[in-house]
Formats: sequence, structure tokens, C-alpha cells
Amino acid sequence: MQLIDTFGRVATDLRVSLTDRCTLRCAYCMPAEGVPWLPGDHILTDDEVVRLVGLAVGRLGVTEVRLTGGEPTLRPGLAELIRRLAAVEPRPELSLTTNGLTLARGGPSGAAALREAGLDRVNVSLDTVDPERFRAITRRDRFHDVVAGLAAAAEAGLTPVKVNAVLLRGVNDDEAPSLLRWCLERGYELRFIEQMPLDAQHGWDRRMMVSAGETLAALRAEFDLEPLGGRGSAPAELYLVDGGPGRVGVIGSVTAPFCAACDRVRLTADGHVRDCLFARDETDLRTPMRAGASDEELARRWQAAVWRKRAGHGIGEPNFRQPARPMSAIGG
Ligand code: 5AD
Ligand code: SF4
Repeated sequence: MQLIDTFGRVATDLRVSLTDRCTLRCAYCMPAEGVPWLPGDHILTDDEVVRLVGLAVGRLGVTEVRLTGGEPTLRPGLAELIRRLAAVEPRPELSLTTNGLTLARGGPSGAAALREAGLDRVNVSLDTVDPERFRAITRRDRFHDVVAGLAAAAEAGLTPVKVNAVLLRGVNDDEAPSLLRWCLERGYELRFIEQMPLDAQHGWDRRMMVSAGETLAALRAEFDLEPLGGRGSAPAELYLVDGGPGRVGVIGSVTAPFCAACDRVRLTADGHVRDCLFARDETDLRTPMRAGASDEELARRWQAAVWRKRAGHGIGEPNFRQPARPMSAIGG
């Protein structure tokens, strides 16, 4: 069995949000005071996450599992959960999207412990290499923790270490070359992601978005970029920088949507399947699961959810509506 939709796309990449909470308050994601968090009893337990991931991998053809949030390292016992997910058969590829704050700290959410538990890779969010700007964007003075976290991830072998950056007009839009240079020097693979309408405040404005085209032009002023092509289902348009080995990705999620090749499906922290970041409806698996549904029944519901996936996100079309849930509650 697989997760297929009416356009013939097959979902093999599952993103699991482990919590909607976060230790940062990135201005493009949530307001300073945060958002109303999900009630604790709605959050899937470890047993429930393991059961659903096991079902997705064992019965529904999922091969890659990315743990996200909010900030997934806020989840108590993350390493133990990773250990259990790494034991699922056939073993999925396991990665983590994090703000990086805990990685250098040692202890159970440190890079070494996560690696030892079975994590394969990390993506760390970093939008600037200027500590003051970092504080302005994230509303927390934690730049140096992220820098140390990235180094700890590389040291622990969570490689290739990837960095996600969002450029914001008038805030850090002059930083494409400096971010790339900084990442190349350290052997990290940088990806620029166009800002999408997923903020809790609903303040996104297309005219303010820094497009992939602009980012590329800024990079080309200082680097030689050779397209690597063959983008397949991966959203990144990858480029070899100055003849390699360094690479950079520029993801035009808005201006060059990759929906036609999308292979993703999402599970929210409260156990709802979303077939797209921008889906208008979700399928609740938590309620039937807690009411005693069989694996068979849950798999059937999951398949039905993906079957309905729309052709594309439709950003910019007249009937586009931003999803009710912000990114922090859906999972990146
Ligand atoms: N548009 C694009 N990327 C976003 N992220 C968070 N909110 C948005 C948005 N509105 C990024 C974070 C993180 C990843 C999970 O998604 O910076 O790197
Ligand atoms: Fe947290 Fe990520 Fe949102 Fe920033 S973008 S507040 S790191 S969830």
C-alpha cells in the first residue's frame, strides 16, 4: 500500500511535528507573546507517535521521517523517541529540523545523544550571521548558541549539516552572500527558503517577500553558481558554488512551486494528517486511535487523507486562503 493522490503523486517523506512550542519567537513566525499552545492532552504520546510512524513506514511506503516543531528538542525524552523510531522496520531515514539551541549543550537533546540514538541529519534554522540581527529577528539573544549547536552537529556526524535561512526585506535581505560565505567556510549546506504565508499573525505580504530570483542575483554578484539540475521531488534548486565542493539551495516555494513533484505528508503534534502545508482540511487520527481503531482503519484514513491532496498550494490565486494553523503548529 502507498500514500497516493489523484494526481499520481506518492508521499514517501513524512514530517512529524513533536510540539508546537518554541524557544525562539521569530518575527516572521509568531508574535512576541507566542501563540495559544495546543493543550497537553492533545499532543501525541511517544507510544502514539511510534505507532503512527510505524504504520506509515511499515504499511504505507514512507521512507523518510523528519522530526519538526515548533522546536522538537523541547520534547522531553527526544533521544529515546528517536531510538524507538530508528527501530521501526524498514528503518526510515531520520532527520530533525531545529533552531539548534540545544545541540551544543550536551545532555539528552545534545547532538551527540541524538546521533547516538539514531538520528541521521539535522537542518538548523539561521537567518543571519550578525548577533544583533539575530536578536531582532528571533527576539532572543541566542546567536552564539546556534553557532555552537551547528559545530556540535558537525562534530557528532549529523552530516551534511544543513542551514535554512529566510530573507526578510529590510531586515536581512543584504545577507545572502555573507550567509553563504559563512556556511561554506564551515562546510554547511545553506538553503534559502522564500517566506511563505504561514505566520501566526497573518502578516505575510508577497511584495515584501525576497524572491528566489533576487537571492540568486545577489549570490551571483559574488559567487559562480552552476545549477545541479535534476531537482526531482526536492524543492531546492541546488547550485555548485565556485566549482564546488560547496553547494547552495534556493527554494522558490512561492515563485516556483514544486507542488507537482511533492512527496510530502505531515503529521501534526496533535495527531492530524495534513497532505500539504497549505491544506484547508486535516484528518484526525488521534481521536480514532484513542477510541481503539485498528492499524488497518488508521491506514485507511491516512490513505483517504492523501488521496484528496490538491494540485498545488495556490498562493497568489484569487481563492487562496492562508491555513488556520501557523507553521509552528504544522511542522516545517
Ligand atoms: N516561510 C518560510 N519558511 C519559514 N520557516 C518558518 N516560517 C516560515 C515561513 N513563513 C522556516 C524556519 C525553519 C523552517 C522549519 O521553516 O526558518 O528553518
Ligand atoms: Fe521557532 Fe522555527 Fe518559528 Fe522560529 S521559525 S519561532 S525557530 S518554530
